[in-house]
Amino acid sequence: MPTLALPRSRILGTGHYLPSIVRTNADLAKMVDTSDEWITERTGIKERRIAPEGVVTSDMAAAAAREALAAAGLDASQIDMIIVGTVTPDVPMPATAAFVQQKIGAGHCPAFDLSAACAGFVFGLSIADQFIATGQMKHVLVVGVELLSRVTDWTDRTTCVLFGDGAGAAVLGPAGPGRDGAKPRGVLSTSISTDGSLAPALRIPGGGSVAPTSHATVDQKLNFVHMKGQDVFKSAVKNLYSASANALERAGMTTADIDWVCAHQANKRIIDQVVSRLEVPSEKVLMNIERVGNTSSASIPILLDQSLRAGKVHEGDTVLMCALGAGISWGSAIVRI
Ligand code: UT7
Repeated sequence: MPTLALPRSRILGTGHYLPSIVRTNADLAKMVDTSDEWITERTGIKERRIAPEGVVTSDMAAAAAREALAAAGLDASQIDMIIVGTVTPDVPMPATAAFVQQKIGAGHCPAFDLSAACAGFVFGLSIADQFIATGQMKHVLVVGVELLSRVTDWTDRTTCVLFGDGAGAAVLGPAGPGRDGAKPRGVLSTSISTDGSLAPALRIPGGGSVAPTSHATVDQKLNFVHMKGQDVFKSAVKNLYSASANALERAGMTTADIDWVCAHQANKRIIDQVVSRLEVPSEKVLMNIERVGNTSSASIPILLDQSLRAGKVHEGDTVLMCALGAGISWGSAIVRI
């Protein structure tokens, strides 16, 4: 019996937005007890972008989405679903995706937020892929956006040196038959996981039902990101490797088939260790952590869009994406551009 392959989804266009304010390691050394040397050696970060007052998460998401729509050659009215990966929403309710829908002028398509922190874009990609592959939706907008500077304790040197603000977006649609003889383009496989037992390692403890916002929660700085860095580091190296190996296996590929690794930019040392275990040469590893820092869910789509616009990644290239963050949630995707 011939097997019927499900239709595939493909990235039709990408976009990104980075706010213009640059905060360097030297700036941070004036704020907390740190140094350019420590931050560069331990993380690979030199500078990060900070959103100016008045700019909110949905503004950045909408800017990235407009670029992605233009790249895809689509109008916002053609979008059937909006997924916004973020842990820094405009407000706790409603979803930031609802504001994005309005700002880009999309119709009454379902629009919702996805809380998978740094893995938000890969989770969103996986969900979008399912809806398109089953024929339920034609065009899905997936955004990763974070305004982490507003949930960062700027007196805590263990976290404030890491994060930056930004947004990245991708419009997905049916892959279509493709050109004769060409390898099929599109989302070839995804692998997503969560280990809730590690949830305390990375969280914003206040502002939810556990500790509703009060003078006390603010005094105790529970409204900021708290992280056990080393626990997250170890989990990242282990799980980013396993998710990537899993996604490769599902796609029937080996690392030799990969043209580019587009990993979440949390720490250069994590990426180096993961690609070394995967035996991917460093020239195939896309990187922008030096200039952008850790933008959580925005990290992968920003890096992918920059690499496409710079002409580094081309149509037909196979990209391995992987990300891990609060949850602890992690995932990987193999996408032929
Ligand atoms: O995106 C979501 C996922 N997040 C991640 O993947 C982050 C994972 N974790 C990491 O990237 C690393 O754990 C960090 C970059 C956060 C920290 O690096 P580390 O090598 O694990 O440092 P550490 O926490 O073990 O701290 C080593 C030392 C400590 O001093 P003592 O106790 O040895 O005297 C820290 O107090 O470095 C000190 N330290 C700093 N020193 C200068 C911590 N932060 C700083 C700093 N500047 N900013």
